[in-house]
Amino acid sequence: MVQKFLSYFIPISIKKFNSEISKSLEVTWNNGELVLDSKNTNYSYGSLQRILRKGLKYIGFERIKNFENILVLGVAGGSVIKTLVDEVKFSGKITGVEIDSKVVEIANNYFGLNKIPNCKIVVDDAFEFVLKTKEKYDLIIIDVFQDTTMPNFLFEDFFINRINFLLNINGFILFNTMVITKNDEIRNQLYKTKFDKNYSLRMYPKVETHNELFTIKKLS
Ligand SMILES: C[S@@+](CC[C@H](N)C(=O)[O-])C[C@H]1O[C@@H](n2cnc3c(N)ncnc32)[C@H](O)[C@@H]1O
Repeated sequence: MVQKFLSYFIPISIKKFNSEISKSLEVTWNNGELVLDSKNTNYSYGSLQRILRKGLKYIGFERIKNFENILVLGVAGGSVIKTLVDEVKFSGKITGVEIDSKVVEIANNYFGLNKIPNCKIVVDDAFEFVLKTKEKYDLIIIDVFQDTTMPNFLFEDFFINRINFLLNINGFILFNTMVITKNDEIRNQLYKTKFDKNYSLRMYPKVETHNELFTIKKLS
C-alpha cells in the first residue's frame, strides 16, 4: 500500500474525528503502521504499544498466558489487547473499559477490536466501573489519559484500595504514567509509598522519554 510505504518518511493522516470527550482524534499511518493519536500524544499502537509491551515483558509473557481474567482500563485503539492476544497468546477473558464511545467506534472500524472473540468492551468511566464490578482479576492494566493529562483519581487512596481489592493474590497491576514536570515526579514517588509489605512494587523509569511504568504484584 502506497500510504503505508510513504509513512516511513512522513506521517500520513487518514482521518480526523471530533469527540465530546477526547476532542480531536486522528488515525495516521506512521512508520509503516496505523496509529491513533490525540491532539498532543500517541494514544494507541506506535510508541504506546511498545511501552505496554515492555511492561508485559517485565511481568512475563509465560506467566500472563496462565492468567484467567484481565482488566484493561483505557482502551483507545486496543493495542495492548492486541499484544495480549497475538503475542502473549492469552486466551482467557479480557474486559476493556473506555470512557469515549467515539474511541471505541474507531477501534472497531480501523483496528478490528471487535474481531477479538475473548474481549468485551464496556463504555464507562474507569472509576465508576471498578466500583461496580463483581469480578476479580489476575492482571489490571491502568492506561488512562485525557490527551496528556492523567486524572487525579488514579493516584488517590480510594481508587488504589479498590484496585488492590479487585486483584487476585499473585496477580499484577501494570500502571502507565507520564512524567513531564517535577510535580509528576513527586506524584509518582508518593504513589510508591501507598503499597505495604503485601505488595511488591517495581518502577521502570523513562520507558520511552516521558513514560514511567509501575508493576505491582499482590503477594498475600
Ligand atoms: C493512552 S490511551 C489507552 C491506550 C490503550 N491502553 C492501548 O493499549 O492502545 C488512554 C485512553 O484512556 C481513555 N480514558 C480517559 N479517561 C478515562 C476514564 N476516566 N475512564 C476510562 N477511560 C478513560 C481515553 O479516552 C483514551 O482512549
